[in-house]
Amino acid sequence: MAYEPPYPKPLDRSSKRSLWNLFKRGRQSWLSTLYEGSYQGRISRVRLPGVQLFLVKFPDLIKEVLVDHFEHFPKHELSETALKPLLGESIFTTNGPTWERQRRMLDPAFGQAKLKEVFSLMRGGSDALLKRLDALEDGGVADIEIEMTHVTADIILRTILSESLEGEGARKIFHAFNLFQEKAVVMIQLSFFRLPLWLAPRHYRIWKRTGREIRELLAVPIRGRYEAYQRGEAGEHRDILQSLLDVRDPEDGSAFTLLELVDQVAMLFLAGHETSASALSWSLFLIAKCPEIQQKLHQETCGLLGSREPEFKDIPRHRLIRNVFRETLRIYPPVGFLTFRKSTGGQRLHKHDVPDGSPVVISPWLVHRHRELWERPNEFDPERFDQGLEQPACAYIPFGQGPRICIGAAFAMQEAMLILASLTRRYRFEPGPGPDPVPTSRLTIRSLDGISLRVWKRPETEPAQPIPDQPEEAAVEAAKCPFH
Ligand code: HEM
Repeated sequence: MAYEPPYPKPLDRSSKRSLWNLFKRGRQSWLSTLYEGSYQGRISRVRLPGVQLFLVKFPDLIKEVLVDHFEHFPKHELSETALKPLLGESIFTTNGPTWERQRRMLDPAFGQAKLKEVFSLMRGGSDALLKRLDALEDGGVADIEIEMTHVTADIILRTILSESLEGEGARKIFHAFNLFQEKAVVMIQLSFFRLPLWLAPRHYRIWKRTGREIRELLAVPIRGRYEAYQRGEAGEHRDILQSLLDVRDPEDGSAFTLLELVDQVAMLFLAGHETSASALSWSLFLIAKCPEIQQKLHQETCGLLGSREPEFKDIPRHRLIRNVFRETLRIYPPVGFLTFRKSTGGQRLHKHDVPDGSPVVISPWLVHRHRELWERPNEFDPERFDQGLEQPACAYIPFGQGPRICIGAAFAMQEAMLILASLTRRYRFEPGPGPDPVPTSRLTIRSLDGISLRVWKRPETEPAQPIPDQPEEAAVEAAKCPFH
């Protein structure tokens, strides 16, 4: 039997909880408010004080919402409120023509060519992580969530702004982001129950202030680059900001304004590091808990790389790493709930007429553990991705689906495979002291008290077997998620 990693056990229907009890549990983590029945069926109507929402759980209905009729299910303002002070009018929360224009203009910055171009910037972040881990005593305990948050924030700064987290400004941004996220979770809960945000005055003040501070800090390098660009001094940058400065809307020829650039960069920083940090932390925990899988990963990376670090062309060749990462995204999808959608235009889903304005909720966490969709849903089994998985597209949605699918999915796969290949080649991980981590819902799925792992250095490896050259597009293709 494969390993069954920790998850909050579903509540028992017979011990029905009061709404107040559920609210209190939900404040800590909505994962602990789920019943066994939540993991079954096609759609549930959930009635809460002041709000009735529809929880859509089956692939055909998810496809209706995210793909077939996506224009009738725009993002709900409930999700927007908590992120607004930081993200302004960014692609993550906008709808309609504004979103369409932003998506048209952002897409090229995450295309194949750009991913190849930013690979060396990613490598810079990954190499800095190796240095930090090398500095640990052998067998020392590392707080893996902190390390993964550090490396992904560093990589996002390097790839977007060509800055590293070693700088003072970048460190301030990083700490302010952590504080903002903590407070944003409280704001999401209040806005969900349509309560005024100032009901939690201290959280509200810090949330507002940190959102503003982060934007001010990010605006400094962006303004410098923007003004230089306007003067015709584009510089030699090959980062994502450069793509955003160069891009013109194919429909009307307009460029991003300075304010739009700050909105988009703030959003990319948040969406692009918090999610990857969560996924990488859980991947390493699962690897540490499964020594046999870990050994196979080490053999795969040594066979391919020997004593060198991964290059762009190596990415598609790490079959096992790809499967481990995909399975981690199934078991612990960083985005446990997609941003709420709002039903418009008199929609009908399964047997329900969905009143206009109702929140429509889709949860990768629930779909990925749905009893009728997955065999042994709670077991960690990377090989299932090699066994001709026949799930419909919307049964596996760690990156969402349809026109609003994650713009950074291929970026995230490339980054994760680079980091996991570098780490499993060089180190062996063991669970640290203390109990297993408890998955909990924050802005992403994190652990309640951190994930600590022991890190052992491996002896230097033999030189690599020569690798036949891969077409470059194959590298990006293979790094993508199945179903996309
Ligand atoms: C493992 C890592 C990641 C996961 C699991 C993830 C997951 C997701 C999901 C589920 C959505 C859809 C949300 C919805 O439909 O409500 C999304 C959207 C988005 N993600 Fe990611 N993401 C990851 C990494 C990244 C990275 C690295 C970037 C950019 C650097 C990024 C940028 C975005 C953007 C801009 C959107 C909004 C797209 C739109 O609305 O058109 N993500 N992501």
